[in-house]
This record gives sequence, C-alpha cells and structure tokens, in this order.
Amino acid sequence: MESIYGKYNDILPEVMESIVDPIRRFNDQTKKDTGNTVYEHLIYRVKSDPSMRDKCRRKSLPETTKSALCDIHDALGIRIVTGYVDDIYTIVKFLKSLPSCKVIDEKDYIRNSKPNGYRSYHMILQLSVPFEDFQGNNPGRYFAEFQLRTIAMDSWASLEHELNYKQKVGNEKMIVSELKRVADELASCDISMQTIRDLIRQG
Ligand code: GTP
Ligand code: MG
Repeated sequence: MESIYGKYNDILPEVMESIVDPIRRFNDQTKKDTGNTVYEHLIYRVKSDPSMRDKCRRKSLPETTKSALCDIHDALGIRIVTGYVDDIYTIVKFLKSLPSCKVIDEKDYIRNSKPNGYRSYHMILQLSVPFEDFQGNNPGRYFAEFQLRTIAMDSWASLEHELNYKQKVGNEKMIVSELKRVADELASCDISMQTIRDLIRQG
C-alpha cells in the first residue's frame, strides 16, 4: 500500500529539519550567551503511516494525503523538554518570532492544567518551507504540533500515558486522584526549582 503521505512522504523529514534546525541553533546561541541551554532535550517524529491511518478513522476522515497533511495537524510532532518553566515561555516567544512560523492553535496546559493534572504548552504552527505542499504551493505550508514541557511534566506524562493503556485497574477513582496529586506535587517542585534558579541568577 502507498504511504498515506503520498509523494510528500520524502519531503516530511526535510520539513522537520527546517524547523528543528533553528531551534537547535537558538539553544546553542543561548548557551554561548548565558552559559545555560534553553532546553534539556528535543525529540521529534513524523507520525507513522499506521498511526496516521488510525487517527483518520478516529476522526471519521478518509485515509487520504489531504486528511494527513491538511486536516490533521500533527503529522510532524516536536517535543521540547526544558529544565525550568520559564524556558518554555522563552522558546514559545522564539518560535513566534520566526517569520516562517504562524500560530494556528495554542493551549497553555501549564497555566490551565487539564483536570487529570496534565501540564504542557501545546502549539500548532503552520510552517512556510521551500518545498511544494499538497496544494501545489512552493514555498509550501505544513503543520507541526509542538509540545513544550519541563522534565517533571514530561516524566509524569510518560508514566500516565503508559498507565492509560493498561485498562485493568479496578479502583480507578483512587488512581486518578493519586495521579492528579502527583502532578500537582511535581508542579510545585517546578516552581521551587524556578525560584532557586532566579535566586542564583540574582546572585
Ligand atoms: P488530537 O487533535 O486528537 O490529538 O487532540 P487535541 O486536539 O485534544 O489535542 P491536545 O492538544 O489536547 O493533545 C495532543 C497531544 O498531547 C496528545 O496526543 C498527547 O500526546 C498529549 N496529551 C494531551 N493530553 C494528555 C494527557 O492527559 N496525558 C498525556 N500523557 N498526554 C496528553
Ligand atoms: Mg493533536
């Protein structure tokens, strides 16, 4: 079977590089200027063909290249994990300053955490890139989903995600409230770590 991304399958990794590159350079430059990096690590992926097809079915969309690249906005996914909460907002500001990026959607699940305790800053960006897109434009437009979180938020999200797939919990209410409690405790640690860094920087 042909890739759901059609002839754009080979372009997607290049589109990815074109956005990841400036983020890496921003990190390197910040390190040079201040002695500290702005993120701990960055991971990214092109959504696999089967996952994208699954998502089309879940959203009752036809399994087409148009659905994958135009209607669904997370064929490209980038996760940036930082040491401190402030760094997230620094990176958000940087991304918004890039002429090739336009914010399509933005959710601050840090200031407004989800009821289960999930925290992250989510953005869908429209990238303008020197490659043809589905509509035949060149420069073309591609969407990418960004998730920005601290190490603490990331560890919670990874474990919670893993737990969700084990559907055999009997005492669900207790598990949910315990997870929420842990998420809030981690958020409190994030605030403390940020305060410590601020104190050190004020010297
Ligand atoms: P889709 O467009 O269907 O992906 O969902 P949405 O528009 O509601 O997106 P949202 O920004 O809420 O979530 C997008 C992604 O964030 C998910 O695919 C997960 O990777 C992550 N995410 C959101 N909520 C949670 C959560 O409660 N726990 C964990 N572990 N991850 C979450
Ligand atoms: Mg999504």
